[in-house]
Amino acid sequence: MATVSTTTSQPTQVRTALVTGGGSGIGEAICRKLAEDGYRVIVADLDLTAAERVAGDLPGASSLHVDVGSEDSVTQAADRVPKLNILINNAGIGLVGSIAETEATDFERIMRVNVNSVFYVTRSFLPKLLAARGSIINIASVAGLVGIKRRFAYCASKGAVVAMTRQLAVEYPRELRVNCICPGTIDSPFVAGYIAKYHAGEEVKIRAELNDRQPVGRLGRPDEVAGLVRYLCSPDADFMHGAALTMDGGWTAA
Ligand SMILES: NC(=O)c1ccc[n+]([C@@H]2O[C@H](COP(=O)([O-])OP(=O)(O)OC[C@H]3O[C@@H](n4cnc5c(N)ncnc54)[C@H](O)[C@@H]3O)[C@@H](O)[C@H]2O)c1
Repeated sequence: MATVSTTTSQPTQVRTALVTGGGSGIGEAICRKLAEDGYRVIVADLDLTAAERVAGDLPGASSLHVDVGSEDSVTQAADRVPKLNILINNAGIGLVGSIAETEATDFERIMRVNVNSVFYVTRSFLPKLLAARGSIINIASVAGLVGIKRRFAYCASKGAVVAMTRQLAVEYPRELRVNCICPGTIDSPFVAGYIAKYHAGEEVKIRAELNDRQPVGRLGRPDEVAGLVRYLCSPDADFMHGAALTMDGGWTAA
């Protein structure tokens, strides 16, 4: 039976990690990194084809169709997973707009996918995570820590992800580990989609602006976020709890 490293030197059973939004970008990179470390990865995504593509590359991995913004869908998905050690709440969507530009239906959609999802998914898997003294890592954003122009709904949603992380850390200090990561702009299909939707024809200019937003002068990479997830899942991070870790090329230091 395959083993993974733990706080003891004793071999243990393979541990299971579920990554929402695992079919693309940051989630996909997290799935790949955790599979390298011997986790049995469940690639959970609304886009089943994408989830199957990622899972198909990884030994022992499986795909799971779920709409994290639907309580029923999450409940049904959770019923299919017998045990869980690591939960990565990563699935999320963006929206460009000031408060004046944001329609109520769009605000509600962002909150459902980025915020209600963390509630539904975490609550559904809570008994299994408690049984395993598991670890939860929420993918928030710098948008949850600082204001970003024309990102009213997105900032609101990611602020809630940071707040939920801290509340869960206070609620379950000995039973779980709960942390979140706040990335700056990461070069994923999320960013490519944003440029294509809002800035078609001016890709080079917008890429340069996005690079400049990070003081280091470039976008981050999904595998860099995945590396931080790897650390947070490891025994080295046993004292990490309730943290909101920025990985943003210096954006929020400015
Ligand atoms: N890329 C960035 O610059 C950046 C920066 C900070 C934070 N984030 C956050 O990181 C997370 C991942 O972003 P990414 O850049 O990898 O995006 P992405 O668009 O590349 O991937 C998101 C994945 O989530 C899935 N998804 C969307 N809605 C879903 C739903 N309702 N149910 C289940 N799955 C759903 C998509 O199918 C996709 O596979 C998001 O929460 C995003 O807000 C991204």
